[in-house]
Amino acid sequence: MKKKIFSGVQPTGNLHLGNYLGAIKNFVKLNDDPENHCVFCVVDLHAITVNQDPKELRENIRETVATFVASGIDPKKSIIFNQSKVSAHSEVAWILSCTARMGWLNRMTQFKEKAGKDKEKASIGLYSYPILMAADILLYDTTHVPVGDDQKQHLELCRDIAQKFNNDFKVDNFFKLPEPLIQKEFSRIMSLKDGSKKMSKSELSNLSRINLTDSEDQIINKIKKAKTDTLPIPSNIDELNGRLEAKNLLIIYSSLSGLTLEKTINKFAEKNFSEFKKNLSQILVDKINPISQEIKKLLNEKSYLDKILLEGSKNANQIASKKIEKIHEIVGF
Ligand code: TYM
Repeated sequence: MKKKIFSGVQPTGNLHLGNYLGAIKNFVKLNDDPENHCVFCVVDLHAITVNQDPKELRENIRETVATFVASGIDPKKSIIFNQSKVSAHSEVAWILSCTARMGWLNRMTQFKEKAGKDKEKASIGLYSYPILMAADILLYDTTHVPVGDDQKQHLELCRDIAQKFNNDFKVDNFFKLPEPLIQKEFSRIMSLKDGSKKMSKSELSNLSRINLTDSEDQIINKIKKAKTDTLPIPSNIDELNGRLEAKNLLIIYSSLSGLTLEKTINKFAEKNFSEFKKNLSQILVDKINPISQEIKKLLNEKSYLDKILLEGSKNANQIASKKIEKIHEIVGF
């Protein structure tokens, strides 16, 4: 049986190396395997849980598609669409919000982080965000969800919601329980300025992340300024304990080169960071620059990008509308 893959990325601009290494690079690998049926969604409904400028949002939707394609996802092999164009997502999110429990949502750490101190002022959408995510996944009978480590808790919630719906309505196995696909060593790329924080679009300092649209000079400059410590690169993994920034840079090198962390450490053991950083900048430029060039080229081909989304939404609608018909029947509508 084919694996059914689903994942989503928010079109909030500044897609970065964390998104690429934690998620998109894996999407490409899954897209290339004919045993998989892949659906990749630009989750614009999720994006509006915080304020968005409509004009920028529209451009960011296109930029996210351009990033998928520039990274190597083939729209002929995978369905690429934006969430708002398949209304079943919002509808199922409502139905599942009647299944999900407040107590479950109250445990979501990402809401706590994003809402910050003033949670009374956060949108209801930001709070119920993981329910919409569950709807995305469950509508397509997804078996596997490639994501970064920060989405793990949301996937566990998705499984709980699916299980409760199946139990409540006595429809064993109606919603499939999806498995997360989280890449062990590369599931959490950290900020270049603070190894205890994940690399993020919303971090104020642009020096904290490598954006996928960065030029060669920007990449080199950011790596030069990336925080490290005074010690050289150790000769074994254990000695990296507590050296968060050093470990992060070695992990980035490993992921881009295809080496394990251990092999990367062996390669650079006892070398100092200024030498290592030259190698890291080089591999980043080699891998990221072609993607950023291609993104820029594709952004000038708006009608091509819009066509991908239109085709994708037709195909996604076909799958989602069948599932929602069954949901109506089960719920009693
Ligand atoms: P989003 O848009 O924040 O991030 C997209 C993907 O990038 C991963 N990621 C990272 N991985 C490693 N290191 C980092 N520093 C890093 N930052 C981001 C995320 O884990 C994610 O895989 N809720 C999701 C989008 C979503 C979704 C879904 C995902 C909506 N519906 C259904 C899977 C299935 C999100 O906000 O991702």
